Parts: sequence; structure tokens; C-alpha cells
Amino acid sequence: MSPSTIYLVTGSNRGLGLGFVSQILAAHDNAFVYAGAREPEKATGLKSLAAKYPGRMAIVKCVSADVEGISDLAKYIEKGHGRVDTVIANAGLGIMKGSVSEVSVAALEDHFRVNVIGTIVLFQSLYSLLKKSHAPRFIPISTAAAAFHSGVIELPFGSAAYGTTKVALNWATRKIHFENDWLVSFPMNPGPVDTDMLRNNVSSDTSGTFENMLSVYPILPSGEMVAESLLKVIDNSTRAKEGGEFIDVDGTKLAW
Ligand SMILES: NC(=O)c1ccc[n+]([C@@H]2O[C@H](COP(=O)([O-])OP(=O)(O)OC[C@H]3O[C@@H](n4cnc5c(N)ncnc54)[C@H](OP(=O)(O)O)[C@@H]3O)[C@@H](O)[C@H]2O)c1
Repeated sequence: MSPSTIYLVTGSNRGLGLGFVSQILAAHDNAFVYAGAREPEKATGLKSLAAKYPGRMAIVKCVSADVEGISDLAKYIEKGHGRVDTVIANAGLGIMKGSVSEVSVAALEDHFRVNVIGTIVLFQSLYSLLKKSHAPRFIPISTAAAAFHSGVIELPFGSAAYGTTKVALNWATRKIHFENDWLVSFPMNPGPVDTDMLRNNVSSDTSGTFENMLSVYPILPSGEMVAESLLKVIDNSTRAKEGGEFIDVDGTKLAW
């Protein structure tokens, strides 16, 4: 790492995003984190971290696909540090409900706005700040459920909006890799994480398939645990090794 590494993590109010902020601050004395949240004033988990690590983070407003708001955020980061080194595009919407025959247009639109447009707007807005970094990384958090080989596509519970939009996110990220030869960019699969997203999906799946699928895991890892693993991969990633690939939580390559 360079003498100071500047991170931006979106969707860090809770779940995996909060785990990322906590792990970055714990692992790197020299890191500064911009922790994106929709409602910074209500971000109690982030406020506790800010108290524990004074001067090492800023809780910033970051609503997916809010072009004006993210542009203001970029100006704020520019003023604070003049660049950003690692952007973790973690904010996501994941309601695993609605087969293709049933999914509502509203659900498709909501998922597309957050998972795809949100990530692209983030990249566009942070582009010039990433270009000023000596080691720029843009890392969207995807899911193995977006991989055609994963088996999730064959399961009876529907996930049309989530699956379709994470596939699109993977496409956009691989395209970002090919369009920008100065950047390290690749989508990552965190695997199952014990967060609100997963818990809500398990409890609303009346078929029990989801619960069965997860029963092979002795414990479901917390956001902190998964963030620690993902961060090791992200911090050591290079364009030659991981760039443009679909990378699993343990750093191995996944088939698309
Ligand atoms: N949990 C899993 O098992 C799992 C598996 C595979 C992939 N993932 C991916 O991992 C990432 C994090 O998921 P998670 O499990 O931590 O989910 P989560 O517990 O539902 O948290 C989602 C985060 O995203 C934020 N968010 C949602 N909509 C947003 C919007 N419109 N603008 C800005 N922020 C928004 C939420 O903000 P608020 O707190 O304000 O609502 C929250 O901080 C997602 O991209 C998800 O698809 C998770």
C-alpha cells in the first residue's frame, strides 16, 4: 500500500459494507475511508467506528444512481484527498423473489437502478479521482447467483430481478476493465453473508429451498468475516491477475 490509501465503500450503513469499513480501518493504520450511506445521520454502526477511529473516516451521503449527489461526493473527496484509490461498489438490492414470468416491472427497475445504474454512475463520477491514484481499483460486489453455472438459476424460487441485474453488473465491470488499461477492476462474489439481505430472502422463501441450500454451511459468515477475506484479495489484486475476471471470495476465478 502507498503511504495512505483512500477508500470509498458504498452501502456501508450495515451488512457487508459496514464490515468492509471496519476491516479496512482495523487492517490499515494508513487508510482513510469514505463510508457511503443513504442516511448518514442514522448510520449508528458507522458513527461508532468514527468514534473508535477518529480522523480516519468520513460518513458521506451516497445514494445509488443519484447523479448530482455522487458528483457532489466526488467534489468532497477531491477537496479532502485529491484522489481515490480503492472504490468498493457494495450497495446493492437483492430480493430473491419473482420468477421471470411473475417479476414486476417495478422490481426490475428498482434492481436495475441500484445494482447497475448505481455502479456505472459511481464509476463515471469517481473516474477522474481514480485516474489520479497510483494504484486505482474499482471493485463491484456481485454474486455467484449471476453465474450461469451456479445452479441458482435452476432453483424453484425466483430471482429474476436480482440475477438479471447482477449479470448486467458483471458485464459492465468486465467492460470497464477492457476500456481502462490503467485500472484494476473486477466483480467479486462474497458467497453467503449473514446480513439483512440474506435473512430476509431465507425467511420469505416458503419452499425451504434457500434454507436447504445454506444448510451445508456450518456457520454463515458475518459481514466482518467476509469483508476481511474480500479485502485481502482486493488489496493484493493486480490488473494481470484479477482484472476483468469474476473473482470468488477466496481469490480464485469463477466461471461467468
Ligand atoms: N448477503 C449475501 O449473502 C450476499 C450474497 C451475494 C452478494 N451479496 C452482495 O453484497 C452486497 C452487500 O449486501 P448485504 O448482504 O450487505 O445487503 P444488505 O444487508 O441488504 O445491505 C445493503 C446495503 O446497500 C445499501 N443500499 C440499498 N439500496 C441503496 C440505494 N438505493 N442507494 C444506496 N445504498 C443502498 C443499504 O443501505 P440502507 O442501510 O440505507 O438500506 C445497505 O447499506 C450487495 O451488493 C449484495 O448483492 C450479498
